[in-house]
Amino acid sequence: MKILILNGPNLNFLGKREIGIYGKRDYEELKIFLKKSAKNFDLEIEIYQSNHEGYLIDKIQEEYSKFDGFIINPGALTHYSIALYDAIKSVNKPFVEVHLSNIHSREEFRKNSITAGACIGQISGFGFNSYKLGLIALKDYIIEL
Ligand code: DQA
Repeated sequence: MKILILNGPNLNFLGKREIGIYGKRDYEELKIFLKKSAKNFDLEIEIYQSNHEGYLIDKIQEEYSKFDGFIINPGALTHYSIALYDAIKSVNKPFVEVHLSNIHSREEFRKNSITAGACIGQISGFGFNSYKLGLIALKDYIIEL
């Protein structure tokens, strides 16, 4: 089973940005964590990060047929990108939205996710484990499809 893990703006700055919220571990450590988790769950993964909305949309449109499902942390695009919502909707594949922080316990503007409505579910607030939980949920969902 092949899963594409998409990370949006500023996630490449993990370990540097708002350490009190996102932790000390950096993006390289997240990638190592994701590869280990995927191996444990017998999943093949590719990881892609971009600071640009359009590049994320291009990646989804160009490569969706190669993957059985997607994990997406859209970063701030979560809260305003109708274009990303439309891209997710348009490929007819299961997406799980994940967030490191609990977006519901932060600023008001973070409480609303535009993109979650195009996904099968959302996991928020468990740090790196949000991705791990997302992989478990996505795999089970795909098996039962
Ligand atoms: C985030 C939460 C977003 O509100 C924020 O803009 C991010 C990271 C998270 O993983 O907690 O960049 O998606």
